[in-house]
Amino acid sequence: MKIGIFDSGLGGLFVTKALVKELPQYDYVYLGDTQRVPYGNRSHETVYKFLKEAVDYLFAHDCELIIVACNTASAEALRKVQQEYLPRHYPKRRVLGIIIPTAEAALKDHKIKRVGVLATQGTVDSRAYIRELKKIRPDVSIFQQAAPLLVPLIESNAIEFADPILHSYLQPLSRKNIDALILGCTHYPILKKQIKEICGPDIKVISQDEIISAKLADYLGRHPKIVKRLGKNKRREFLVTDLTAATKILSMKWFGTDVKFRLVRL
Ligand code: DGL
Repeated sequence: MKIGIFDSGLGGLFVTKALVKELPQYDYVYLGDTQRVPYGNRSHETVYKFLKEAVDYLFAHDCELIIVACNTASAEALRKVQQEYLPRHYPKRRVLGIIIPTAEAALKDHKIKRVGVLATQGTVDSRAYIRELKKIRPDVSIFQQAAPLLVPLIESNAIEFADPILHSYLQPLSRKNIDALILGCTHYPILKKQIKEICGPDIKVISQDEIISAKLADYLGRHPKIVKRLGKNKRREFLVTDLTAATKILSMKWFGTDVKFRLVRL
């Protein structure tokens, strides 16, 4: 059986690239809902419906475990899927999110006291990062900034225009004297260099492509029964719900090699 990775679009390819590199032995299937991206400005009910459809699709296609790489879906709908949908429909399967491992990675260094979160409007409004960070360390100060313009800009392959927008999103966070910044969206690793330059050396930038494979390795280490059921033939499949010329250009850029996509309907 396979490890499924789900994202609203192609941003999850950054995390997938890291997983395939760090844990190459497993079979992976990537599903990007490119027809309906972005999720970041949609209602809670809609994101829940979309996530359930993705979960159904991936479990029907031989996934043992699903990683929801999408922060918006992890923030808005994952808890309900885990607590209500899975017990009823897939009691033996697992769906893991990206918010808790990111919060853990951000607070690993005990010197971190003030954390900034840059994310979509949906993720910010859900307050999921605040909830999870406070669970780990109640005294941490958290400052959120929604960045609704970044995903459309990144998806348009136009990051050369991002600098002034990034400055205006990051300025309120630096004014709060944050010592760490969570890039709380699948797409933001592409802006990591620009963001680090703007933040300067005193702010630690937490990027999910650098943390998720270690977190998955740790999870699998604690779940040998799941590991036993996982296929280890290095198979990779890439599924999208819409396929355009831009899909191919962006995936080449973000994943690093030519990706053969298959079009699917959820
Ligand atoms: N995948 C989404 C996330 O990580 C970003 C794109 C979207 O808004 O759907 O929040």
